[in-house]
Amino acid sequence: MKGAVRLQKYLADCGIASRRKAEELIASGRVSVDGAVVTGMGSKIDPARQVVRFDGEVVKPDTDLIYILMNKPKGYVTTLSDPQGRPVVTSLLKQIDARVFPVGRLDIDTEGALLLTNDGGLAQKVQHPSHETNKTYEVIARGTVKPETIAALEAGIVIDGRKTWPAKISRVRRQAPCTSLQITIHEGRKRQVRRMFQAVGHPVVNLKRVAYGKLRLGGLKSGSYRFLGPEDLKKIYL
Ligand code: URA
Repeated sequence: MKGAVRLQKYLADCGIASRRKAEELIASGRVSVDGAVVTGMGSKIDPARQVVRFDGEVVKPDTDLIYILMNKPKGYVTTLSDPQGRPVVTSLLKQIDARVFPVGRLDIDTEGALLLTNDGGLAQKVQHPSHETNKTYEVIARGTVKPETIAALEAGIVIDGRKTWPAKISRVRRQAPCTSLQITIHEGRKRQVRRMFQAVGHPVVNLKRVAYGKLRLGGLKSGSYRFLGPEDLKKIYL
């Protein structure tokens, strides 16, 4: 890292959190530069000359970048710590010295594919609105989801006063009293899939993310994970 960089970018590049999350950490007063807490967003630092601390610990760039695909079980949260004491996904990782963080969120009651990394750049790319990768979910929704409802979900429906981006729905099967299907979306709004189906009167009873782009969860067992190589990473953007 050369020259002055934005503080949130430095934290992300050092594997503390995604850039978005790093901004929250700064705002909450957990980051200091040369001993002074910084809460504003504009600051730049010179990593060669200044000392950045997160929760009192010196922040330095990670040399090895690690990419993990986990099959997140239900009941785990995707934050790094939980004030309510619920289990965190990183507790499922064994013998990994680097400080990896989840890329984006998966609700506590949602299972399936979750990327973890110490590469702030990748996290930023996967989550940034201009890049947001495709994410595919297997959904079991209550009731019979009719073809016209599927068309409406695909075209985009209004949640939070904003229309969702076009989605793709496939593998629709009636499983009385529910319907199972796959949906691929390009955004990452909070509880988006659940809220989309809720909005059309078919609450989600089970939700599992099965792919980021063309990177599929495959046969990974619940709670287990594997390391990703360059070929896997390319598939995220396909
Ligand atoms: N949509 C949801 O509703 N929940 C998730 O965890 C991910 C996408």
